Amino acid sequence: MPASVPWWKRTTVYQIYPRSFADGNGDGVGDLSGILGKLDYLQALGVETLWLSPFFQSPQADFGYDISDHLAIAPEYGTLADVRALIHAVHARGMKIVFDMVLNHTSDEHPWFLDAQKGRGAAKRDWYIWRDGRKPAGKAPPNNWRSMLGGSGWHYHDASDQWYFASFLGFQPDLNYRNPAVKAAMLGVVRHWFAEGVDGMRLDIFNALFKDAAFSDNPFSWRPVPTESNPHGYFQRHVHTIDHPDTLAFARELRQVVDEFSDPPRFLVGEVFGDATTLRSYCGEAADGLHLVFLFETLTAPLHGRAVRKLIRDFEAAFPEPFSPTWVFGNHDRPRLSVRVRGQAAKAKLLAALQLTVRGVPFLYYGEEIGMENHAVPLHEGLDPVAKRFQLVPQPLVAWFRRRGILLNRDECRSPMQWTGAGNGGFTPPGVTPWLPLHRNSHTVNVAAQDADPDSLLACYRLLLALRRAEPALQAGALRWLDELALPPDVVAFSRELAEDPPRNVAVFLNFAAAPVTLDLGSLAGRVMVSTRTGARLPVAPRYALQGHEALVVVAA
Ligand code: NOJ
Repeated sequence: MPASVPWWKRTTVYQIYPRSFADGNGDGVGDLSGILGKLDYLQALGVETLWLSPFFQSPQADFGYDISDHLAIAPEYGTLADVRALIHAVHARGMKIVFDMVLNHTSDEHPWFLDAQKGRGAAKRDWYIWRDGRKPAGKAPPNNWRSMLGGSGWHYHDASDQWYFASFLGFQPDLNYRNPAVKAAMLGVVRHWFAEGVDGMRLDIFNALFKDAAFSDNPFSWRPVPTESNPHGYFQRHVHTIDHPDTLAFARELRQVVDEFSDPPRFLVGEVFGDATTLRSYCGEAADGLHLVFLFETLTAPLHGRAVRKLIRDFEAAFPEPFSPTWVFGNHDRPRLSVRVRGQAAKAKLLAALQLTVRGVPFLYYGEEIGMENHAVPLHEGLDPVAKRFQLVPQPLVAWFRRRGILLNRDECRSPMQWTGAGNGGFTPPGVTPWLPLHRNSHTVNVAAQDADPDSLLACYRLLLALRRAEPALQAGALRWLDELALPPDVVAFSRELAEDPPRNVAVFLNFAAAPVTLDLGSLAGRVMVSTRTGARLPVAPRYALQGHEALVVVAA
């Protein structure tokens, strides 16, 4: 492996939603000691970096994305000692750990915001974004800026007769990054956790950090709903609230802070939305901004050969070396991957093969490796604050949004991890009420049931992750299309190539059609092929009948 390729470009990331992963103290809520107890599982699975959604002090109105103390741990998740023990244990296994940093906003119960509400002259007033209402009456919001969920982003504060801005929900007031004290405080938080040994940070709605200093209205647009590749919507172009040039400049400033910690190097991955050019701009022209950004088009792209090839082409074009794409098929906000593949294991395996062999950093979401399904919970029962906000939306519309990759009730993708077929799925002891109900299929779909089954989805993930760890070309090789094979459009075929001495390469064939295709593998004689259908490592056959939705990876013998 060339020493010049940093670890974060070669790694595989596994996202843990701490509340739902494993309950170590039997109170129905997942916690840090629960995660600690599952490190053997994660290591054996073969993932290398763990990203934990927030577990900091918080009223949990958005289950941790509303932080009231960035340096303290919410007691339901554990203590600072637990965090330190976890960092230590992860590192002792040669693995890495990434925290989720919510820089954009705090909880409305954060002491800073409590102070800010004391009045116009409060010490922390200018730590948030306050404005007078529109004149003459002053009872209309200061301008037309919308929140990311639609509706005005401004919230009226009666006592001071002013409005504060929140990019997400009203209890998550945005910090004012134009105040140098805010910037310094938040960079202090970043430094604090890096000094504790954290290897990277996932940056929550990073695209919203800076807004127009003149508070100009956003221009009108005909777009009703934002999408992955275009964040404009709710009938306006969010040019003054999203992707502000000062946010891009801040990405570079933040990078300099991260670069203070070089042994080992750390990384930043940004949650941003937009077309490939916008996304790339967060990484800096000279690769001096965020190390990675999420590319969410994978969450909704159609799953056929042409569409997948286009996705790869677009990512390759926008993120050439030294940049790197990312590959995501699920997270704590989106419908689970199993919804996309309609529960078909062969298709899930095919997507896993794509994600773990294509160029880019893969982000797996907990439970994906066993095919956990969305847990449909009626909107009015949702604990998720987004579900509460949209609880009057009729069910057919909820389903319409879900099909487009938008969850109005994010509880659906956050049900507890299914470890065993026992009561409560081994997440929390039987008899305890878990914070969210287990999916009803936990008796059959669980880690224990798949553990020893060589045909299982879990076995397939383990196989692919092991291949990726063993093959430097899969971690760092350039991607070259195998066009010379003239395969049908539904077979996506590429090779990953590393110019080492001797050169290394891996050939990948992904059949997105249901019909089999005969591959002529004669030129790859002497190598070994690994299939998502059989799991076997076999010597290359001159001709191979690639079945519908099968993936084949050909590696050195
Ligand atoms: C994006 C996070 O992924 C989501 O879960 C959260 O609710 C919002 N940002 C607000 O922090």
